[in-house]
Amino acid sequence: MDIVVSGIRPTGLLHLGNYFGALRNFIKMQNENRCYFFIADYHSLTTHPKAEHLHQNIRNVLIDYLAAGLDPEKAAIYVQSDVPQVCELSLLLSMQVYVGELQRVSSFKEKVRRQPDNVNAGLLNYPVLMAADILLHRADKVPVGKDQEQHLELTRDFAQRFNHIHGTDYFKLPVAYNFGSELVKIPGLDGTTKMSKSDNENSCIFLSDAPEVIRKKVMKAVSDAGPTEPNQPKPQAIENLFTLMKAVSAPETLQFFEEQYNQCQIRYGDMKKQLAADITAYIAPIYERILELRSDDDYLRKVLQRGAEQARESATQTIQDVRELIGIKPL
Ligand code: TYM
Repeated sequence: MDIVVSGIRPTGLLHLGNYFGALRNFIKMQNENRCYFFIADYHSLTTHPKAEHLHQNIRNVLIDYLAAGLDPEKAAIYVQSDVPQVCELSLLLSMQVYVGELQRVSSFKEKVRRQPDNVNAGLLNYPVLMAADILLHRADKVPVGKDQEQHLELTRDFAQRFNHIHGTDYFKLPVAYNFGSELVKIPGLDGTTKMSKSDNENSCIFLSDAPEVIRKKVMKAVSDAGPTEPNQPKPQAIENLFTLMKAVSAPETLQFFEEQYNQCQIRYGDMKKQLAADITAYIAPIYERILELRSDDDYLRKVLQRGAEQARESATQTIQDVRELIGIKPL
């Protein structure tokens, strides 16, 4: 049985990008593997959230996880900071990671551009902590979206380096859990290539958006006046609408609008109406479960307690093994 590890930062509500990147196929995934799904609260501290927001968002992510189908009977669901062994593993790995290689990571360079007043050491060390999350349970597979590909590659580098330095094959080299296809990148409604709440909340469809909110957001999505010649390549914003439709709609629906586009007969108002209805139908079961779970604090607490116990058990074993491999052991 393979080990699967994945995490999501509690920076807000989960959107369709998170769903298709990390949560799709939960049911199959947790039936076939040993899964550890956590809420990456340490990682979210790089942007200095307010304490009450962080606290609320941890709860939100947990609710979204459960509503999306993650089953605490089958998978360990926990908060990263409830398993502090990850900090020790991150520290130990960081001794074998070079500052230069961390400075070259794309997500770090992007953060430096975006938040030049807050280039903290946590940002630089972000990929090491992420590698520690994954290696802590000696994962085989990591379900992530395309944006996390480089972090996963670094995790493999660090694992391989550790193995090489200590003459062991202790860490497996984890690969993306891509469900047999390319890693996905769900676009935003604002014409950008990635749905992301840090860019623009209105460009995101959250799993907890009510049907009328979804309709409003989708109707306002960026489009244009339509093609003037048949079979033209699509501009980015239009490509985005088709990508979203491919994710949630029936193949015939997609094909219908593709043909309309290619024949210059497309009416984006109609396409958006259809897209909004299909997104709503797609997330309806998740949305309903979110509403139920919101009032069930007792259950939520129990899930996290149990998940943390399971994750700590696996983490404690790894830390014990790693300490021994590097020469930290009783005299
Ligand atoms: P985060 O919190 O930014 O995103 C959580 C998950 O959602 C995916 N994702 C997307 N996938 C497709 N299209 C999009 N538009 C989109 N937006 C987000 C991300 O790829 C991710 O799978 N560093 C991680 C959190 C993390 C983690 C880990 C993940 C910490 N430790 C260990 C896996 C394993 C992050 O910031 O994800």
